[in-house]
Amino acid sequence: MPAPIRIQQCPVSHTDFSTDTEIYGHYAMLDAEREASRFRFNDTTDRGFLMIQRYDDVVEGFQHHETWTTKVRSAINPDSRSGTALLPQDLNGEAHAKLRRVLNPFFSPAAVRRMEPMAVARCIELIEELQPKGSCDFVAEFAIRYPTDLFLALLGLPVSDGEFFLPWSETVFAGFFGEDPAKVAEARKNIIDYFTETIRERRANPRDPKEDMVTRLLEARIDGTPIPEEDILTICLTLMLAGLDTTRSALGYIYAHLARNDADRQAIIDNPDLVPRAVEEFLRMYPLVFQVGREVQEPTEFHGLDLQPGDVVWLGIAQANRDPRKFPEPDRFNPDRKGVNQHIAFGAGPHRCLGMHLARLELAIVLREWHQRIPHYRIREGVTLTERGGQLTLPTLPLEWEA
Ligand code: HEM
Repeated sequence: MPAPIRIQQCPVSHTDFSTDTEIYGHYAMLDAEREASRFRFNDTTDRGFLMIQRYDDVVEGFQHHETWTTKVRSAINPDSRSGTALLPQDLNGEAHAKLRRVLNPFFSPAAVRRMEPMAVARCIELIEELQPKGSCDFVAEFAIRYPTDLFLALLGLPVSDGEFFLPWSETVFAGFFGEDPAKVAEARKNIIDYFTETIRERRANPRDPKEDMVTRLLEARIDGTPIPEEDILTICLTLMLAGLDTTRSALGYIYAHLARNDADRQAIIDNPDLVPRAVEEFLRMYPLVFQVGREVQEPTEFHGLDLQPGDVVWLGIAQANRDPRKFPEPDRFNPDRKGVNQHIAFGAGPHRCLGMHLARLELAIVLREWHQRIPHYRIREGVTLTERGGQLTLPTLPLEWEA
């Protein structure tokens, strides 16, 4: 057996994945990297990182959670933890498992199903507002509004607060991509004040802890100790940061696909039962969290590679979801493919997305309700779609239809 090699000796990649490109540009670059060599060392950050890219390898990488931790959350932005604390992401091991046990019941399939009637009603309202207009920027006017409203409802807050909450959360997101730091700080303060007020109100007037997340967080004990208020605030902020931009982005890619692919759209119009499988296939094809990072805490040998404490690892979600070894013809939308739900768009292992059942529900409701009311639509002529790097999103998607 040859001695394991240090990760820096892998074929080197100089690709910077944080830049903006034309739509699907990142998938093309990522597929090329994966096919060029099984492992790569990327040197575009100060620390560099090992790119793990094939489906089987990435799934295996997620299983190293005890020693590859979220001390680094993103390989391309390894210092992001120093800026914004996130919970439960930043915890690992037993401490992480304990907090997940408190949070999981609110995001279980059964809990999410309880939200369904409200989620359907709100979706129909938003679509019916747009339908007579005959056009919209799908991203700004629908794809971000809908998850924001459901997020507020999840926290037991009035959906009408979306009017002022949405501009704040949009400014905070923009902060990750160069928005004026003073504006970001102000928006962040508004959000923290808003959540602080919610916590104060729930302390004074507790609701049913089975139904109300903030009450449950206030009443929960971990090893006999209440969760500090600061941590409850961080959890609320995390849910906002983790749940809104992601769902918006998933909807953007799904609608860009359906607007351009008449046969796939017709299949959904003709057969709404296809929707759950279509959602899985879209999540596989267009993973917007295209990588997550981990920091190695203990020496590890991984398929002939020598990893040492402090090394940064890239777990290539998009490369795995689009790996032809696992998903033949990965560029083809095929909701009937074998193992359609074996994609890892929500990650894997103990940090697997807390909100995945909610996200699936939201996407499925939108696909069903939209196509009943606006079955045919197109992208406005002459528009070139771009995608933001880092964590993929379409900044705009102008759609038109016959009103
Ligand atoms: C299509 C939509 C979504 C996608 C693609 C997505 C993707 C992901 C991924 C890949 C991870 C794993 C991160 C890692 O391993 O480091 C994750 C974690 C997480 N997601 Fe999502 N997510 C989505 C929607 C949501 C929603 C709607 C919420 C909540 C309202 C949410 C809350 C979270 C939280 C709290 C975590 C951290 C879990 C932990 O560390 O234990 N996500 N998500």
